[in-house]
Amino acid sequence: IALQPYNTFGINATARYFAAFTTVDELKEMLAELQAQNSKLKIQNSKLLHDSQLSTPNSQLLILGGGSNLLFTQDFDGLVLKNELKGIEVVRENEEHYYVKAWGGENWHQFVQHCIHMSYAGLENLSLIPGCVGASPMQNIGAYGVEIKDVFEELEALDIETQTITTFKRNDCEFGYRESVFKRKYKGKFIILNVTYRLNKTPQFHTSYGAIEQELEQMGIEQLSIGNIAQAVINIRSSKLPDPKVTGNAGSFFKNPTIPHTQFQQLLQEYPAMPHFPAPAAADATVLVKIPAAWLIEQCGWKGYRKGDAGCHSKQPLVLVNYGNATGNEIYQLSEEIISSVSRKFGITLEREVNII
Ligand code: FAD
Ligand code: EPU
Repeated sequence: IALQPYNTFGINATARYFAAFTTVDELKEMLAELQAQNSKLKIQNSKLLHDSQLSTPNSQLLILGGGSNLLFTQDFDGLVLKNELKGIEVVRENEEHYYVKAWGGENWHQFVQHCIHMSYAGLENLSLIPGCVGASPMQNIGAYGVEIKDVFEELEALDIETQTITTFKRNDCEFGYRESVFKRKYKGKFIILNVTYRLNKTPQFHTSYGAIEQELEQMGIEQLSIGNIAQAVINIRSSKLPDPKVTGNAGSFFKNPTIPHTQFQQLLQEYPAMPHFPAPAAADATVLVKIPAAWLIEQCGWKGYRKGDAGCHSKQPLVLVNYGNATGNEIYQLSEEIISSVSRKFGITLEREVNII
């Protein structure tokens, strides 16, 4: 099956098998079938090759939400399972909070809009992020001063091997900047079924991210509300991020790096205009400074660069784009070149944020 409609980069890759699940039982049936096929394959192969030591890789599995944070660099020789679990409900409430449970296949932005409409506060700064609820804990999505870990209560996930459902509380998820346990030690082990967010009855406005205040001022807002914060975020994002429906992309391709304060001071002597932001200290207490990757990439001359259909966005160079028919490999090669040039010029190694498949 062609995967082009299922990834926002618009990469023309294929999957050997593709299915969508709308209930947990359906998902379990599909997994059981896959496991049965895998064991059959193993037996067949070991008989064929008379090699009991042979380890046949299991038929690969990829869980897909909105396909807005991945890059296919080759055809996927396995089963792609699209999460279409739907439903939103308030599971409990107290004086301060609504605990809102959303199923993994819900569209993220529509869910945020629903919460704003119902006056459940806390997600407004995360407006207009593409993708689905089920992927939101994967990289602890964040924007404009808020990350989902700030409002996360718990999630339920299906263990692919045992088919049991496990509840993860916030501490179990080991959330970090664009990080969680699901990208690390539990990579490929769980399917996130639903997520419960702890939302506020009395809003706490987050306008510390400079651009929001400016935008609210321009909008002529005097009385803050979660609705107009959402609108300010939507305005800012629409003005600089490419719309995947028009130009293929997966948002920021790289993470913003942090560097030790000593290295930062040396660089600042050479580049006094280098933007920088405080960052949490490293585990060994080293003081760290965050440098915007967009600035580093722009300084290396990549902003607006285009080779064939692979390019670096002209308004936000942290975003790599597909102008039409770029292959995943062409995008990946461009990312390699960017990483090398930033490393040569600044001695900083950029890390990819997008999941490479
Ligand atoms: P997919 O791309 O489908 O999947 C991403 C990864 O998660 C894959 O490895 C997949 O296998 C895995 N996965 C998906 N669903 C599940 C599940 N239910 N269980 C287990 N694994 C799963 N991100 C931000 O954090 N902040 C931003 O501001 C932001 N802006 C963006 C702007 C644009 C224009 C675009 C295109 C992307 C942006 N992103 C941003 C990235 C992306 O939108 C988020 O990472 C989003 O959460 C991805 O959701 P998805 O459903 O599309 O995930
Ligand atoms: N900058 C430049 N040149 C540019 C654009 C930006 O030098 O052309 C510098 C400026 O110094 C600017 C700084 O980069 O102040 C930060 O830019 P911006 O506010 O656009 O945010 P970002 O750091 O590039 C991050 C996230 C985005 C998120 C925004 C808003 C990462 C990897 N990216 O981008 O997330 O929406 O902040 O919070 O942390 C995503 O993950 O896909 C994503 C889009």
